[in-house]
Amino acid sequence: MQVDELLKPFPIKEFHPFPRALLGPGAHEMIGPEALKLGFKKTLVMTSGLRGSDIVHKITESMKYHGLDVVLYDKVESNPKDYNVMDAVQLYQENSCDSFVSIGGGSSHDACKGARISVAHDGRNVNDFEGFNKSENPRNPPHIAVSTTAGTGSETSWAYVITDTTTDPDNPHKYVAFDDASVATLAVDDPVLYYDCPVDYTAQCGFDVLAHASEPYVSRLNFEPSLGNALRAIKLTAENLRQATWNPQELSGREGMMYAQYIAAQAFNSGGLGIIHSISHAVSAFYDTHHGLNNAIALPRVWAFNMPVAYRRFADIAEVMGVDTHGLTDVQAADAALNAAIRLLRDVGIPERFTDVTQSSYSKNRLGTGPTKYYENAAVIKGDDEDVDRITRHVLGDACTPGNAKECTFETVRPVVDHCLNGDLDDLIS
Ligand SMILES: [Fe+2]
Repeated sequence: MQVDELLKPFPIKEFHPFPRALLGPGAHEMIGPEALKLGFKKTLVMTSGLRGSDIVHKITESMKYHGLDVVLYDKVESNPKDYNVMDAVQLYQENSCDSFVSIGGGSSHDACKGARISVAHDGRNVNDFEGFNKSENPRNPPHIAVSTTAGTGSETSWAYVITDTTTDPDNPHKYVAFDDASVATLAVDDPVLYYDCPVDYTAQCGFDVLAHASEPYVSRLNFEPSLGNALRAIKLTAENLRQATWNPQELSGREGMMYAQYIAAQAFNSGGLGIIHSISHAVSAFYDTHHGLNNAIALPRVWAFNMPVAYRRFADIAEVMGVDTHGLTDVQAADAALNAAIRLLRDVGIPERFTDVTQSSYSKNRLGTGPTKYYENAAVIKGDDEDVDRITRHVLGDACTPGNAKECTFETVRPVVDHCLNGDLDDLIS
């Protein structure tokens, strides 16, 4: 069902599936044996390459050791593009593969989900499946999704996000597809694989988790089964993100963030998202910036925007973020939650507005993958009136927007977008 239908009076709620999962230090060593159990013979491995780490080499060699044939597609770009998906589909078909493994963050998993759906429809373009449950053939190849970041949740969710590069180059379109058929067969969440994740990337992915957890907690979908997971994920993020960022070789912080990201995704899977994600998708569409970074910058502004319709819920968030809420009204506690989020953002060193994001604070050469084909001439973020307008229009068309806590119109959302681009976080602190 589409979000609009879920918001009707007396809606029927819908719970979306999760895959089986292996969680914990060392879980990645089970990929080969698990692939054999699932009947894999010739597997297309999809990844960005994770250059600078030996993760892809270790996993593919282990798969070969277990007798599997491996074909490697290691050109998935950040904010995966439709051509990444279709190149992988072609490689899969040319090599007569029978299964998929994705290794990486959300980009690798999302591109792989799109490729599986395309393969199940004789190689039809992935962009044909934008929307809710557009698969006509629910049977697609089996897929083991191996996460190397604590952020995405894509290894356990029914969502995948693709940039459609066939649209007007001045107005690129990044969309979320939700499809029960896209859910992986097995998720592997191993905090040992996070050890190579750079400091800034760890922090930014952590704010993707905070967005995944807080958006369903205040969403108008008000999906009861998601609320406990959402709060728990916020608590784990507040307790572990600083440690994971600044003491990256210490297991407890990494493991705490692994569970935070896993259960946050399970919260939004049926509980919905909101305009933190819509703003993030829009800015990525125009500038190819990192999803977690975008979420981090949007989060405090969107919390402030949504607060008047959900003070009680934000007061709960304050409590799990470690605020002593005794004696505070809901409004005071909600304000304290916002202060705590800004403190966390500053503690882990995230830029405070989009126009602060320069090539030096955000490298498109992350882990050595080089500039992406589609955005090699991308401008630095402008933030002028025209930019604010086009980002706002993209936000209003995003599939995450109807689930936002507060109703969104161009007039109400535009100032939020403008603040993300140009505003000062100190304006939000009480
Ligand atoms: Fe996200």
